[in-house]
Amino acid sequence: MSGTITITNHPLIQHKVAILRNKNTSSKDFRTLVGEIAMLMCYEATRDLTLEEREIETPVAKAKVNVLAGKKLAFVPILRAGLGMVDGVLQLVPSARVGHIGLYRNPETLKPVEYYCKLPADISDREVIVLDPMLATGGSAIDAITQIKKRNPRSIKFMGLIAAPEGLEALHKAHPDVDIFCAAKDERLNDHGYIVPGLGDAGDRIFGTK
Ligand code: PRP
Ligand code: URA
Repeated sequence: MSGTITITNHPLIQHKVAILRNKNTSSKDFRTLVGEIAMLMCYEATRDLTLEEREIETPVAKAKVNVLAGKKLAFVPILRAGLGMVDGVLQLVPSARVGHIGLYRNPETLKPVEYYCKLPADISDREVIVLDPMLATGGSAIDAITQIKKRNPRSIKFMGLIAAPEGLEALHKAHPDVDIFCAAKDERLNDHGYIVPGLGDAGDRIFGTK
């Protein structure tokens, strides 16, 4: 089945993304907003999780209820900026496992350089959601998902905040089975591989490194 591309344009998300883009937003507010948007987007990205029926007793009567089936989710943030999304998604799915993939873009070639990969041991029983606020050329997301696929997870989704059309197209072409969720699709990439209008360097803004 072909993966879908969803731009989650809920008014609350649009409002928060607007504040995120503003260059005068502080690192503290930026971090808080990235977490909040990730939490709201996670609601949409988990809409198709499998449920199973159980019988329980309420204080009043027996009831048939639906709970999440089997082994569930693993979130995999791409370091560094993906870390900013982890707390938000864990608020919705506290029992999820968390893996980490360390990648940075070589500023000259714009190609991803991998420096760390630690994934949950039982990842083959889990649905994976890869987290990274920025989908620019798509190189980092493509590389991360290629690494994760080697460990045979049940499925993979990508969740980002701001996407360039170039990155969306490249990711969908490289991994056509992966559902992609983003909060905004921007105009283009500039000559330095930055998303326009974008929000600048997400890692630097989250961690205050510039
Ligand atoms: C940023 C961002 C993505 C990547 C996107 O990371 O967080 O991982 O760039 O660009 P791409 O789609 O062209 O690959 P960066 O390389 O700046 O590393 P950092 O998070 O460690 O700052
Ligand atoms: N990485 C970022 O953090 N921002 C961009 O605009 C592109 C890549």
